[in-house]
Amino acid sequence: MDILPLLCIVSVGFTGLTKGAGVLPDGPLNAAVGGTVTLTTTLTPTENPVFSVTWNFGDKNIITLTNTNITGPEYEGRITFFIYTGSLELRNLTLSDSGEYRVTIIPHGAAVIEGRTTLNVYEPIDNVTAEASSTDLVEFSPVRLSYSSSGSSPSFLWMNGSSEVTASDRVHLTDGGSTLTITNILCYDQGPFSCNVSNPVSDGTSDTTKPHHQL
Ligand SMILES: *[C@@H]1O[C@H](CO)[C@@H](O)[C@H](O)[C@H]1NC(C)=O
Ligand SMILES: *[C@@H]1O[C@H](CO)[C@@H](O)[C@H](O)[C@H]1NC(C)=O
Ligand SMILES: *[C@@H]1O[C@H](CO)[C@@H](O)[C@H](O)[C@H]1NC(C)=O
Ligand SMILES: *[C@@H]1O[C@H](CO)[C@@H](O)[C@H](O)[C@H]1NC(C)=O
Ligand SMILES: *[C@@H]1O[C@H](CO)[C@@H](O)[C@H](O)[C@H]1NC(C)=O
Repeated sequence: MDILPLLCIVSVGFTGLTKGAGVLPDGPLNAAVGGTVTLTTTLTPTENPVFSVTWNFGDKNIITLTNTNITGPEYEGRITFFIYTGSLELRNLTLSDSGEYRVTIIPHGAAVIEGRTTLNVYEPIDNVTAEASSTDLVEFSPVRLSYSSSGSSPSFLWMNGSSEVTASDRVHLTDGGSTLTITNILCYDQGPFSCNVSNPVSDGTSDTTKPHHQL
């Protein structure tokens, strides 16, 4: 009972001491290909623009603003920089925009601050297709149901009616969860079996995706 309050106090103390933490959210931030993301700093805007800023992606310069203004060639036309907070908007995202972003800011009349965060860009899930090894099911025979889709890092949530399918000696989930095999089907396996294919940028609420598919 005593150890928990003590741990909380210690961790709060550490958070306060971490240099540069909090200028950017920890992330990762998730965004879709073709989409837009804003890397928002926690600076409170004042009436003065920040004195100087450098944004980097890996070893690439995105924008450097001091008394000059240099934008990296591949970022021309697809960024907006916010001079009062140092925040950066990136548009027309591609998969290769995934990675770590670092910022160094000198606010007006204050000491240098730094931040880093990670962006993951995903191709939305699309074209979900389902396949069954057999449509004429006979009791005690095996059946294999599998899903495929376009889109990055799909995850598969299998449902049997309204409850989640769990693996057992008779029920196997393979190929990263995309294939459900029932080694001997029984008459009470009535399902219906369905699968929710999702990734962090398409969870099935969008009209353009059909992640919830019933076999
Ligand atoms: C810096 O230059 C870019 C284009 O190269 C422009 O879009 C942007 O508004 C400029 N920013 C400032 C603060 O001058
Ligand atoms: C995104 O890219 C497309 C073509 O690649 C271009 O037509 C469009 O203007 C770009 N949009 C932005 C916001 O840069
Ligand atoms: C989805 O399928 C259609 C037709 O097969 C194809 O034209 C389209 O490019 C596919 N979309 C993706 C994101 O793969
Ligand atoms: C599906 O659910 C029924 C109960 O609703 C259960 O008897 C059956 O074993 C389940 N089958 C699988 C493959 O999870
Ligand atoms: C699919 O799964 C995602 C992530 O777990 C969830 O947010 C979404 O509501 C589910 N969609 C359906 C149609 O079940």
